Amino acid sequence: MSHPLGELSALQTADGSLSLHSERFDEAFHSSIGALAEAKAKFVRPAQLERFCRKSVLRVLDVCVGLGYNSAALMNALPKQSAPTLQWWGLELDPRPLSLALMHDTYRALWSPDVLMRLEQLNQTNSWSEEQSEGTLLWGDARSTLQKLPEHWQADLILMDAFSPGRCPELWSEEFLGALAKRLAVGGRLLTYSRSAAIRGSLRRAGLNLRSLQPAPGQRLEWSSGTLAAKPGGSEPLADAGPGWKPLCTMEEEHLNTRAAVPYRDPNGHDDAQQIRIRREQEQQACKKESTSRWQRRWRHRTAGIESS
Ligand SMILES: C[S@@+](CC[C@H](N)C(=O)[O-])C[C@H]1O[C@@H](n2cnc3c(N)ncnc32)[C@H](O)[C@@H]1O
Repeated sequence: MSHPLGELSALQTADGSLSLHSERFDEAFHSSIGALAEAKAKFVRPAQLERFCRKSVLRVLDVCVGLGYNSAALMNALPKQSAPTLQWWGLELDPRPLSLALMHDTYRALWSPDVLMRLEQLNQTNSWSEEQSEGTLLWGDARSTLQKLPEHWQADLILMDAFSPGRCPELWSEEFLGALAKRLAVGGRLLTYSRSAAIRGSLRRAGLNLRSLQPAPGQRLEWSSGTLAAKPGGSEPLADAGPGWKPLCTMEEEHLNTRAAVPYRDPNGHDDAQQIRIRREQEQQACKKESTSRWQRRWRHRTAGIESS
């Protein structure tokens, strides 16, 4: 039987946590710093969960659940006492990563018994339901399953963890990111490891305010380790700088004016990766934006080793 991710092979990351490599996407699920370390630094810390302790509901959408690290780390970090009621939705194409992860004792040992039970239930029945929390995992292409969420449901947090834009452009298109932005509640935050100019441009055009995620302590020093995109409004405006984020610097703003910022487009929501990549290359060739390599030369003291597309 052919699987959408092809063969999956296990990898051990720097913090000892299990990750996987997908043969079809030719990419690892996590950066080498560690699956758990990445979940904590890029998703849990900038979510500022303490904001929800006294609030009645925390609504989370996990896009590309995979082995479940991001949501499990988030749930593990919620206070045991006075935790908010949790409404959780997950979108994922392939059930194997979560199943495989749950077969590893080292993975199971990371989570509290409550969190582990929820992961088990998602794996077995696609959902869990408790007095204070409920979760449902929708299997399939996230472009379609996103439309199956309850019509008016909105998220306080969207954890966006698709494979890289070059490998999985269908989940980084202007249209899909726009649809995710519509699902954010006022004051809600979309968190992603991506610092790509194309992705940041689409999120900004979708009306979100951008911040740059900073490398966690111990992580290789890079100019950014991801993006926080927040829907404006609400009683507590997003601070310029906060735990793990700061404003985009001049270099990052100028990145958004280069050819790298040409977005991925998927007008009907069902093109394959190759069609989306070709459409973008044609738009890049025709556009009058500054070349990304010129921008890189201007900032070479800070951008060594970054992608230029
Ligand atoms: C980088 S991994 C996610 C890692 C995950 N967040 C974790 O903590 O383990 C990307 C995931 O995207 C899923 N995926 C790929 N294409 C998809 C699609 N079109 N719709 C939904 N999920 C997709 C893959 O099956 C894979 O699990």
